[in-house]
Amino acid sequence: MNGLQDWPEPIVRVQSLSESGLPMIPDRYVKPLSDRPSSNRPENGDANIPIIDLTGLTDDETELSRSTMDQISSACRDWGFFQVVNHGVSPGLMDQARETWRGFFHLPMEIKQAYANSPKTYEGYGSRLGIEKGAILDWSDYYYLHYLPLTLKDYNKWPGSPDYCREVIDEYGKELVKLGGRIMKVLSINLGLNESHLQNAFGGENIGACVRVNFYPKCPQPDLTLGLSSHSDPGGLTILLPDHEVPGLQVRKDGRWITVKPARHAFIVNIGDQIQLQPQTQSGTLNLEPESKSFEFKVLSNANYKSVEHRVIVNSGMERLSLAFFYNPKSDIPIKPVRELVSADKPALYPPMTFDEYRLFIRLNGPKGKSQVESLKSPRCH
Ligand code: OGA
Ligand code: NI
Repeated sequence: MNGLQDWPEPIVRVQSLSESGLPMIPDRYVKPLSDRPSSNRPENGDANIPIIDLTGLTDDETELSRSTMDQISSACRDWGFFQVVNHGVSPGLMDQARETWRGFFHLPMEIKQAYANSPKTYEGYGSRLGIEKGAILDWSDYYYLHYLPLTLKDYNKWPGSPDYCREVIDEYGKELVKLGGRIMKVLSINLGLNESHLQNAFGGENIGACVRVNFYPKCPQPDLTLGLSSHSDPGGLTILLPDHEVPGLQVRKDGRWITVKPARHAFIVNIGDQIQLQPQTQSGTLNLEPESKSFEFKVLSNANYKSVEHRVIVNSGMERLSLAFFYNPKSDIPIKPVRELVSADKPALYPPMTFDEYRLFIRLNGPKGKSQVESLKSPRCH
């Protein structure tokens, strides 16, 4: 038993609350002052995460390909987030996937309830993360499903309608696994590693992949709440298809929240905790200074590529829908620093943990900024 048998209190669908037309949100959704959308320094209105055109990204060492990889490298270091355009996934499929899911969320509640999820696996139709009784909740509903590995892929847990929903999810998943694989190669090379290093560390062909479709209903008091609290993504890479009409995703940059302005038919890519926790080897182009402390920290925690905090704000005028595709390590491989780099005087910053263990830890707690990754650091390293 892992203590995740059921939710601690009855589930309320945020969409039903929204559609009931209430003028004020229930106290359960009111965030403490410091977490509310307007609490931070005002954002820089013009800032946006980098937009990178993947047209030139080929396996050959062309100049264009090199420059595209450099842009990705800077984006990973400076932001942990970037948008990609001309990424090879057809715009038609992207629109179809988004609109199919919109169709699902607009089905009658009885149909959606048949897919209601539990905290045991989270698969299905859900309205909260974490099982803390009395927790303050986010203003969103979601649908979560496994695409890979095949042993976890279960069509019965995917929606049976709208028509062709399962076919569309299948096709979309196939394309996104391809795109994820291309990006993993680029990250490996940019870190000075063999092009398949990260992919192999993630279990090669046996990666995990899941989809979380986020539905943010209209909110009568958007300044008091969040659609999704600040968090970093626990997995490897996230490839997000945002709502093309309604902004909402905010990324933390130098203490400010920057609202992402989605480019047409772009995906938003971000680094997850598993890549932050992945070690680098000593080979490659890293600037190695073995005696210095900063070297030790960089190598063991991979502080070069951080999984960056982000959150979602909501609004009173329009609902918002996004599809997050999580490209994850195989769930039972321990993620730990390279053995040669750990010794009594150079202890690992994080204890080895499989992705399954890590995900369970995150799920018990719900979204909590970066405090969960930090709390995992081995005690002697604090
Ligand atoms: C997520 C996420 C952002 C969004 O699902 O992890 O960060 O824009 N989603 O919905
Ligand atoms: Ni996220």
